Amino acid sequence: MAVSIKSAREIELMRHSASLLEDVFFRLGEAIRPGISTKEIDRLGERLIRNHGCEPNFLNYNGYPASICVSVNDEVVHGIPHSAHILQEGDIVSLDAGLIYKGYHSDMARTFAVGKISKEAEKLIAVTRQSFFEGIKMARAGNHLFDISNAIDAYVTPFGYGIVRDLVGHGIGLKLHEDPQVPNFAQKRKGLLLRAGMTLAIEPMINMGRADVEWLNDDWTVVTEDGSLSAHYENTILITDGEPEILTMSGKCD
Ligand code: MF3
Ligand code: CO
Repeated sequence: MAVSIKSAREIELMRHSASLLEDVFFRLGEAIRPGISTKEIDRLGERLIRNHGCEPNFLNYNGYPASICVSVNDEVVHGIPHSAHILQEGDIVSLDAGLIYKGYHSDMARTFAVGKISKEAEKLIAVTRQSFFEGIKMARAGNHLFDISNAIDAYVTPFGYGIVRDLVGHGIGLKLHEDPQVPNFAQKRKGLLLRAGMTLAIEPMINMGRADVEWLNDDWTVVTEDGSLSAHYENTILITDGEPEILTMSGKCD
């Protein structure tokens, strides 16, 4: 496993890539409302990315046919946008997007409420978000990678939710997916030693019901096997000698 350590110059480019992505997300969040189609969200997202002079990194990635992954309700991740898929009041929608700025990738996801949603759905979204923050408390030079995984699991499991195991976070930089893989569930081993200059995408995917997922016939959309709701929360972060830096959270987005 070759985990890259970014130079000061690379970190500056990663910061900029991530801050442009955060701006895209801020605007996408404002566009979420009952009546918008998932395809319109994709088109808007792609336009915002290109207006920043960047490339969408998901488009054509292993054949993925859109720029933004739009996953509604029991769709966990990698939902394919469709003009016939209209968001309804009470839905929850996970957006996952990334971009390339001067060769450097950023990656981010949020789950949004469409209009008024149930208390249970609100709680799922809040716990998924908080699980990321529990994880990155451990994201410090000198700790081990799986300290992050263990912290996410220890926080989420008491809620009775299912932590998705089939998909994981990842290193990020000159490629969207670099080593190492970052699981969101408890690990027996310690994992690699974290060092300043590592950049990671940490992305818990949490189901209200069981952890099991399946793939739809489009070969992309991942759904919960039991039909329960699922939420996703992802940021691109930098390991430093002190507090981790959340590169996709410089102020605009929660
Ligand atoms: N954001 C996803 C990830 O974190 C990548 C989506 S890949 C795509 O790994 F092909 F669906 F775009
Ligand atoms: Co990712």
